[in-house]
Amino acid sequence: MVDWEAVRMICSLDFWRMAVYWTLALVYSHLYLLFAPRLSTLFPSLIRPPPSAFPRCRFAPGPECPVQRPICIVTGATSGLGEAASRALAAEGFHVLLAGRCPQALNKTIQKIKKHDRDACVEAFQVDISSIHSIMKFETAIKQWLGGSNLHPSIQLLINNAGIFAKSCRVTADGFDQMIETNYLGAFCLTNALLPLLKSSPVPSRIVNVTSFTHRCVSHVDINEGIVAREKFCVLSTSEKYRFAQKYEYSKFCTLLFSYELHRQLYATDSDSIVSVVAADPGAVATNIMRELPPSLKNLAFMVLGLLQLLQPPESGVGSIIDAALAPPEASGKYFFGAKGRTMKSSSVSYDVKLAEKLWSTSFQLFQECKARI
Ligand SMILES: NC(=O)c1ccc[n+]([C@@H]2O[C@H](COP(=O)([O-])OP(=O)(O)OC[C@H]3O[C@@H](n4cnc5c(N)ncnc54)[C@H](OP(=O)(O)O)[C@@H]3O)[C@@H](O)[C@H]2O)c1
Repeated sequence: MVDWEAVRMICSLDFWRMAVYWTLALVYSHLYLLFAPRLSTLFPSLIRPPPSAFPRCRFAPGPECPVQRPICIVTGATSGLGEAASRALAAEGFHVLLAGRCPQALNKTIQKIKKHDRDACVEAFQVDISSIHSIMKFETAIKQWLGGSNLHPSIQLLINNAGIFAKSCRVTADGFDQMIETNYLGAFCLTNALLPLLKSSPVPSRIVNVTSFTHRCVSHVDINEGIVAREKFCVLSTSEKYRFAQKYEYSKFCTLLFSYELHRQLYATDSDSIVSVVAADPGAVATNIMRELPPSLKNLAFMVLGLLQLLQPPESGVGSIIDAALAPPEASGKYFFGAKGRTMKSSSVSYDVKLAEKLWSTSFQLFQECKARI
């Protein structure tokens, strides 16, 4: 039986973009980790030594500390990396608030975590990251929950992990492309909504934005095409060919620009900012992210990545996210990749300050407009 959907996809440019560019971007990142330390000692004038790895700092409050168990929010906690991160952070002693759009999936995840660790402190909160209205309701629910508890009214860690890979064009209730709103704009709005709670923490707090090696496929050429124009967030015509691979790369590129810009803003006004922000790239991980691909292609991709030894299970793929969550405040503004506390440079265009400022002001304006419509 011929899988015509798979055949159609193989005939698309985006499929080959993913197969070739994404694999090259991933291989580059792994080769860098493997060879940069050795090459930098052999050719110190040509290759800079990689930055030193950051240790994981466990939270150890004194008896007087107003936060005895830090509070962490993980978005997209019902599957893959979000579930693995929630489990790992609960084991690290965090009170984990699992944020997801499906109540049944949230309950199931809580049961799974509790089955492994009876003492895990976990709560479920419903939120659809691709809806500003839902994000505002989530903010209110978190504040009410904090107000009704005897905990300090602040949060210590926000992990913006929820994400999708959509192969067709869908428009959200806010009027944006669903992949862009879920992967980037929703995280931007949620972060801005929760920033006061992170800032009021009496101990250092942290934002971790989950990005991807695919951001490396966004080039200077794309940037010259007005990459942060507000039209990029919207769907201009549903009949236009949907460039799903480019949209995904773009959403992850925006996530990086946003992380670096927020870091600059926080530290520009206060060099001892209580809130720090880092980006984490898990590499290639066998999760449900490719659920919209025809199963035969998804299995083929996993098989090839597995043969190249580039595919990890969620339990180890989550390493860079947990490193990013537990690294000391000096890690702010860094890009974590490859676990073991390692960081590296992201693509050179992702450090474009002017572009990041433009993206911030466009996103902020869209957020305000959506809020005003609610
Ligand atoms: N897997 C990889 O190789 C890889 C590589 C680089 C980066 N990443 C990034 O890692 C993150 C986690 O992905 P994953 O690989 O763990 O994929 P996954 O298994 O599909 O998990 C994605 C999670 O996001 C949630 N989600 C999707 N749309 C949402 C929405 N509108 N509101 C709230 N939650 C929503 C999903 O919930 P539902 O179950 O309700 O859909 C699910 O819990 C993503 O940002 C992804 O881009 C993944």
